[in-house]
Amino acid sequence: MIRKPVVLITGAGGEIGHGLIEHLAKAGRQPVITLDVNPLNPALGRMVQREFTGSIMDKSLLERVLSEFEVETVYHLAALLSTRSEFTPITAHQVNVEGTLNLLEFSQKEAESHGRPVTFLYPSSIAAYGLPDLATKARAGKVKEDAFNTPATMYGANKLYCEQLGRYYAKFYKQLAAEPQSGRVDFRCVRFPGLISAMTVPSGGTSDYAPEMIHAAAKGEPYACFVRPDTRIPFMAMPDGVDALWQLARAPNAQLTRTAYNLAAFNPSAEDVRTEVLRAFPDARITWENDVKRQGIVDSWPEDVDDTAARRDWGFAPAYDFTRAFRDYLIPTIGKRYAR
Ligand code: SER
Repeated sequence: MIRKPVVLITGAGGEIGHGLIEHLAKAGRQPVITLDVNPLNPALGRMVQREFTGSIMDKSLLERVLSEFEVETVYHLAALLSTRSEFTPITAHQVNVEGTLNLLEFSQKEAESHGRPVTFLYPSSIAAYGLPDLATKARAGKVKEDAFNTPATMYGANKLYCEQLGRYYAKFYKQLAAEPQSGRVDFRCVRFPGLISAMTVPSGGTSDYAPEMIHAAAKGEPYACFVRPDTRIPFMAMPDGVDALWQLARAPNAQLTRTAYNLAAFNPSAEDVRTEVLRAFPDARITWENDVKRQGIVDSWPEDVDDTAARRDWGFAPAYDFTRAFRDYLIPTIGKRYAR
């Protein structure tokens, strides 16, 4: 039996998965198979060659995928986001860490069986950082990858550790064995800012206030923002996020000097987001209702990140700054989404 070379996306039904499936389907280079705990929405399902409904914790399901497909690239997107993870930290650890370990081991076995490295794309997050207080956050400005790696959340700790796990598979896996076994998993990771999609709303994250504000306004619903107006963290328009993963996947390995890269696009305050939303939807009803605990999480994230390495090594260059993200992507697309 001949197994087919494919791309595997886990967590494919999530926000990034939506954009990525469309992007890969358009590029049309390689068939896509997906794994998600929920069935894909049928429009997305039609764009993929095979849809597995199940958990990344299910090793026998991963064995089945291995037996049927030659996976050459993995986009491992499945995760529990930061707010949800604080309510169920043990489950978060299981899904975010053990699940990632399962996918890394799956990729190692795939590479051993088809004889080529598996490119493994992993979205980490600004949650991997932990700034101790607002004064330090203001002073820190654009944070570099290796500074402030002291996350304040289960999710952030999970992401930071999985970055290290991926690096271990890529560079040191079974380093004492007679035959070298590292490098079969070609691990590549980006630390995403908060992502804003016009097509989907996030669930269970803490950067959710920005996309929630925009989507509520587009639907004509009131929104009470759970962070202070002066709250500032980096954000990015979803098409740039998807593009970044795709670009990093195709970059020649020899050009990569790191396994985890910061990405930046724009970093508005919550007040800036409100102002921009009101410009597009003058009737929007947006109020402030601070959730001190979630505020604490956002305050521990940097106000900006230094993405020099990504720009230099693999040509990262986001198309959307704050103004363009609203004018050319969010407002026109979101308008169509809710037009009935
Ligand atoms: N957007 C994510 C969250 O809020 C951070 O990566 O959890």
